[in-house]
Amino acid sequence: MSTNNIWTHKGTFLLAAVGSAVGLGNLWRFPYLAGENGGGAFLLVYIVTLCIVGVPILIAEILLGRSSRRSPIMGMRFLSRTHKASRAWESIGWLSAAAALIILSFYSVIAGWALHYTWRMLTGALIDADAATVASGFESLLASPSLLTLYHTLFIAASGLIVGLGVHRGIENALRLMMPALLVILLVILTYSVMHGDMPAAADFLLTLQLSDLSFEGWLAAMGQSFFTLSLGMGALMAYGAYMPGKASLSRTALAIVIIDTAVALIAGLAIFALVFGAELDPAEGPGLMFTTLPLAFTEMPGGSLIGAVFFVLVIGAAISSAISMIEPVAAFLVERFDLSRAQSVAIMTIACWGLGLLSVFSFNVWASDSPFHTALSISAFELMELLTHILMPLGGLMVALFAGWALTHGEIMKELQTSEGWLHTWRFLVRFVSPAAVAFIFLRAIPQIEGYLIPLIGAVVIVGAFAASRLFRAKHQPKH
Ligand code: TRP
Repeated sequence: MSTNNIWTHKGTFLLAAVGSAVGLGNLWRFPYLAGENGGGAFLLVYIVTLCIVGVPILIAEILLGRSSRRSPIMGMRFLSRTHKASRAWESIGWLSAAAALIILSFYSVIAGWALHYTWRMLTGALIDADAATVASGFESLLASPSLLTLYHTLFIAASGLIVGLGVHRGIENALRLMMPALLVILLVILTYSVMHGDMPAAADFLLTLQLSDLSFEGWLAAMGQSFFTLSLGMGALMAYGAYMPGKASLSRTALAIVIIDTAVALIAGLAIFALVFGAELDPAEGPGLMFTTLPLAFTEMPGGSLIGAVFFVLVIGAAISSAISMIEPVAAFLVERFDLSRAQSVAIMTIACWGLGLLSVFSFNVWASDSPFHTALSISAFELMELLTHILMPLGGLMVALFAGWALTHGEIMKELQTSEGWLHTWRFLVRFVSPAAVAFIFLRAIPQIEGYLIPLIGAVVIVGAFAASRLFRAKHQPKH
């Protein structure tokens, strides 16, 4: 059964895709990764990767969604059948569902921290706090399984509720309300940081190119980040693409998504670093940048508590608009495949993510030093979840690129892209060769952490990939009817 949902307006797909792309990745991850990896040099690699990997795969993913008009799993089943390709390509759908489940489980836990900070800022709990107090506040949040579970539950329930209300009544309405509000908040924060922070220092830090600052690790982090921030390899854009009206231009929309997403990351980065430098704090704080350094900067500035609260509302809103796009593809699959009601499907996905999220919750406290995961893999549950996404997302993206590049016919691509021959050929070349090769590098990122068992894992991946590809090419050479 194909879906008969289509976005109400031509622009809604862009709104939804930007909602998915802009999230913790832009506000939390981009600034701290840039901070750790030398600012400008990181930005350069990030933008180059966006162009040669991000944009082509983004187009490929939306294209697969729109041409199948189904949820990712059913869509890939449909496309591999109609293109006489191996059913192994259906694994794109399964991989993306697994990635969405895993990432949402810990995404929700982190977004929950922002709930805590909104509350703390609003109640003025951090007024006049010093560095040690702010840092210990974050530590005691992490040490409390019940608080973390509470916020995680609230966040995931709110996201599930929106998706449960349906594509039009829930997702569209929520986005139409939230996205403009988030833009206004972002501009308020930017203005505030120009007035009270040290913007020249931030611009100098983020935009000055010092190639020597960039390590190999930073380079890989920039590539991984470009995947994460565009929500690639998780079926989100495929699911949203399935609701995109046939006429809207795909390449132009994809370009708009990338430009807006990057602009938001840059604005957030500039604002955050301006505040951090204004308060004479260290930009290279890692994941704690948003939750320890930034709150401290706010406490030192006029009206900081209020603006701080507003900032964390922005974080929550951006995270919710991303979370709904992780629930949607899996929920839509359950509806299509098992004929469940939307409410039932969303409940299944949400509860599964919630349960899995508890592993991350416990990894910060109960299992902080000793867990079943530590014993077996020598990393925490949270790290394991992160690691899995760094494997699943690129793998999904790689297969999306290969399928769109090799299996679809010229005519089909032309119909979807509605563009010049020149761009079509460039895009095809990128998704056939350049993006897959670059994605293979992103994979390497995971190696230092799990050397031991990564080797059979990569081996298995390569074998499955080669098998799938050979079946595909064999199929392509059969006569077409
Ligand atoms: N792009 C989101 C962000 O920047 C995170 C994300 C990664 C995501 N993959 C996704 C969101 C898939 C939705 C669906 O925060």
